[in-house]
Order: sequence, then C-alpha cells, then structure tokens
Amino acid sequence: MNQKLINEAERVLDANFQKGGFTIPCKGLYPFQWKWDSGFIAIGFAYKNPEKAQMEIKTLLDAQWDNGFIPHIIFHTNDDSYFPGPDFHQSVLHPSSSKKYRSTGMTQPPVTGFVLKDMYRIAADKTDMLAFIRTHIDKVFENHRYFYTNRDPQDEGLVYIYHNWESGTDNSPVWDDIWTTMNPPEYVFERKDTSHVDPAERPTKREYDHYLHIIDIAKSHNYDDAKIAETSPFLVQDPLFNAMLIKSNEALIELYQLIGGEAEKIETLSAWQQKSIANFNKKLYDDELGAYVHYDLRNEKPIRQISSSSFSPLFANIPDKERAHKLVETMLGKFGGEDKYLCASFDPSSDRFNPKKYWRGPVWINMNWMLYYGLKNYGFAEVAERIKNDSIALLERDGFFEYFDCRKDNGEAHRKGYGGGDFSWSAALLIDFLKT
Ligand code: GLC
Repeated sequence: MNQKLINEAERVLDANFQKGGFTIPCKGLYPFQWKWDSGFIAIGFAYKNPEKAQMEIKTLLDAQWDNGFIPHIIFHTNDDSYFPGPDFHQSVLHPSSSKKYRSTGMTQPPVTGFVLKDMYRIAADKTDMLAFIRTHIDKVFENHRYFYTNRDPQDEGLVYIYHNWESGTDNSPVWDDIWTTMNPPEYVFERKDTSHVDPAERPTKREYDHYLHIIDIAKSHNYDDAKIAETSPFLVQDPLFNAMLIKSNEALIELYQLIGGEAEKIETLSAWQQKSIANFNKKLYDDELGAYVHYDLRNEKPIRQISSSSFSPLFANIPDKERAHKLVETMLGKFGGEDKYLCASFDPSSDRFNPKKYWRGPVWINMNWMLYYGLKNYGFAEVAERIKNDSIALLERDGFFEYFDCRKDNGEAHRKGYGGGDFSWSAALLIDFLKT
C-alpha cells in the first residue's frame, strides 16, 4: 500500500468537500454536486471518513424529486462559472421537481444502490453503516421504480437515456451518428469549460449546440418522460447505464436481505432484475463485434461501436462465462496492446478515436474501477490486476486528473493527465484500489 498516494488522495477529497455536505468533482470546471460522481466519492470517503460518505449520499437523496427521479447536477450555490447552469435547465418546469434545490432535468447512471453496498463493505462500524442504509435505501428503491415506470416505453426492462450527458460518457463517438440525424440551431452562449481546460481536450461548439437543443426539446415538454420518449431525437438504451441499474438492483436485494422484513421489495427487484438481464443479453450484445453495444431506440437500430461501456456488463454479472471470455478477448485484442494502458474509453482502432479528447479515447478511473471488479468477479485475475496497476501508475505519474492518455508513449517528455486536476473520483477510487 502506498501511504503517500493515499494521503494525497485524501487531501484532494477533503479539499473538494463543501460546507453544504457534498463534494465537487473538481475546482473550477465542476463547482456543484454530480450524481454518479457523488457515489464514487462516497466510496473513497467510506474508509477514513464515513460521516462524510454518508453526508454525500444523504445530500444527493435530499434532492430527489417526488416521482423518484434523482437529477444529474444539483446546483447548491449560485456559482455562475459553469454553463449551462440552473437558468438554462429550469428543472422547476417538471411538476415533481425538488422545491428545495435547483437542478438539471436529466439524470446520470444509477450507481447509488451498489455504492451503498460498497460503503457497507468498507465500513469499520457495520452497525452504524447499516443503520444509515436502513434509513436511506427506500429512496434508492424509489429511484429504480422511477426508471422502470418512466424510462422503459417498450416494457423490456431496459431503460432509455434522452441525453448524452445522462450516460456519463458525455461526448463519446458513440453519439456521432445521432448528431447527423439532427440539425440544431446555432446557439449563442459563452462556454465556461474551455476557460478552465485546453479546448483540444473538450467537445466542440457544434457538439454543444446538439446538447443544448435536446435539453430545449425536453423543456418544451416540461421534462415529461412520455413526451420525451415520443419526441426526443436522442433516445438510447445504454449498456453502461443499464448495467449500473442491474448492479444496483443486485445490491439493493442483498441489502434488503440484510435489513430483513422487505419481502415485497425484494420480489419487485428480482422481477426487474430477471427481465433486465435477459433482454440486455438479447438486445445489447453484438455477436460479430464480441461486445455489448448501445441501441438507438429513436431510429430502432444498434450503434455498432465498441467503447469501454461495452465491457461494463462484467461489473454487473450480466454475461455468462463464455460471453465474458469473448468480452475479455475483444478488450485485450482492441484495447490491450503492450503500448497502451487499459482501458481506453473508445476503440483505439477506430478512426473516431482521439487519445486526448474527453470520452473519445482517454482512460477514465471510474470505468477502470468498475472493470477491475467485473474482471475479478469472473476470475480474470491477471487482466484485473493489470487494469488496477495501470490506473495506479497513471495517477501516480500523471497526477490526480480527470482522464489520461492511454498511450504509454504519447511523445510528451513531461506528461500529465487531461481535463480537471485534483479530481475527486480519481482520488476516491484510488483509495479503494490501494486498500483492497
Ligand atoms: C463530465 C463527465 C461526467 C461527470 C462530470 C463531473 O461531464 O463526462 O461523467 O459526471 O464531468 O465530473
């Protein structure tokens, strides 16, 4: 265990923790609370600071809407250094939105269920952590009910996302073909992200026009899910998002079993789980590519691109053993060359791959963390170790950044990571990597 690195990671987390009881992903670039960041951050805090871990989740769940929805960003302050902020999103348009917090009207991957279970795994005081879980778990269950009731128009157990920002993998090349089906107006706005970070590492202005346009469409329907399902040009079943839901279902079942006396909820979760896993395997697996892919529900066709999301079902016990083998073969064959760190966020053999740009190629620590546990669970110990060691090596040498070049030699003598620095989930998950 590398104590110096752990100390450094703890320093980053503490520095990003805010008075309001939540942690920003990083200073400057992301000054509010983000849904899936919060989950990963709570895992990092659970080791040394379980009170902060609990506060993080408590604050997130406090922003839940009456219909069970949990927003992707909670704008706790009036900081105007981020675009698009609360005045653009106008979450208040939805009749069930929080009366207490301003937020976006979109969500992010449902990590909170499995995060509660990880917090329990890590907690030194299991009784205290279970008491916390007991008082908060129903909110997470209601979040899952929201997804299955409102985001699954064909009743497949596979939920849709209506915006690339809901995926967490914001500007992945996976969305490129969808942009060609749209022709959004040219928005006039001031980008804030590019004043914090090199524009070469961020999406283009035209990409932002698409992002804003989809939000405007959702707003024109007051964020009504059924109307969004009918009209949004972006409507996707995302393997990463659905794998997180499935992983969280599994965690909720186990936690309710621990708590006891919740037979009905366990039954409901098990029914969701069975249907979701069966249709996930039927609909989202591409035999020819040997990988899971996204499905474009608006245009009724698979999006046949391989990204790190393609392997995330390993984390949620979705593939059978044979398919898991095939996935690892694909991962090593396409992403795992000796000259590369695992795991690039997008297929390095594709002409859409870009090693510097956001989700179009770089390594992300949260993805590596999920893949590590997935690989380990299926018995791929060696690849799991490699992914863990690659993550630690990158963080140690390139700093606590948001994302990293997957090329071992990228031609830079003094390399560092990309995007925001002192990045919370990179720090949080490094702690878990080093302590497990
Ligand atoms: C970026 C990432 C997203 C993350 C957010 C805050 O938008 O794409 O996944 O939640 O930053 O860190």
